[in-house]
Amino acid sequence: DEVRIFCPATVANVNCGFDSLGFALEGIGDEMVFRKTEGRGVTITEITGDDLPMEAHNNVAGVAGNAMLEGINDDFGVEIEIHKKIRCGSGIGSSSASAAGAVYGINQLLDEPLSNLELTRYAMKGEALASGNEHADNVAPCIYGGTTLVTGYSPLKIIALPPLEKVYVGILHPHITIKTKEAREILPKTVPLADAIKQSQHLAGFVASLYEWDKELFSESIQDMLVEPHRKQLIPHFDEIRTISKENQCIAFGISGSGPSMFCLAFAKAHIDSYLAKSVALYQENGLQVDSYSSRISG
Ligand code: HSE
Repeated sequence: DEVRIFCPATVANVNCGFDSLGFALEGIGDEMVFRKTEGRGVTITEITGDDLPMEAHNNVAGVAGNAMLEGINDDFGVEIEIHKKIRCGSGIGSSSASAAGAVYGINQLLDEPLSNLELTRYAMKGEALASGNEHADNVAPCIYGGTTLVTGYSPLKIIALPPLEKVYVGILHPHITIKTKEAREILPKTVPLADAIKQSQHLAGFVASLYEWDKELFSESIQDMLVEPHRKQLIPHFDEIRTISKENQCIAFGISGSGPSMFCLAFAKAHIDSYLAKSVALYQENGLQVDSYSSRISG
């Protein structure tokens, strides 16, 4: 028996929901293949597309998969092939795709005994290996699809938000390295009350805009008072790229997860494509390599 799955790239935080909000992207993602074996635990048999550890205990897919196999305590092992298409360290959920993919694929092999919430809990173990912290804002949308909100970590609670069919996404990935762990360490431990109030208004506004589709409220709500001011200096030309997004009628712009990728949203594909072309040109003029993707939020 063999199971083959697609594990989508994801955008975490979405400005107004640090460690809480995330969405999955259409068409950008890894592939993974699963087979049941007689032994015990996860064996990674092949990795293509990137140079990642094959030993299960050093690999996010291995760690998440083994946590799940121990949890369900069944009498078999699993072989996993990982075909990476999402660049590691890009900020669009590369490690999360492997962690979420591992538990999702094993669940498919077993005829789906576990819920998405239980799968997310195991996937977070793999995510922790990569980032030093168990957050679910990338793994949850990867498992559930669409847009998800973590409303609690202890106990874990996840809400699948209404689909965002009318929104186009642009991803820009300048080739610099930002480690999630370091991007978390530079954040202040406390925030001013006035900023906390604004941020909670934005997250509430974002959620409300989806239940009774309100274009204007949606666009106004995707702002980050808390994290972006500290992280944006890690990303070259960040403010100039934001200006390009506005000049091209895009409605939201920010850091994807802990960066260096940036996400941009618009109500027309033409706006995203023109924003991407101009932003890529700006990076190239400055001698920086960059990848760009035009996508949608998955349904
Ligand atoms: N919420 C996480 C962060 C996502 O921004 O640090 C990256 O893993």
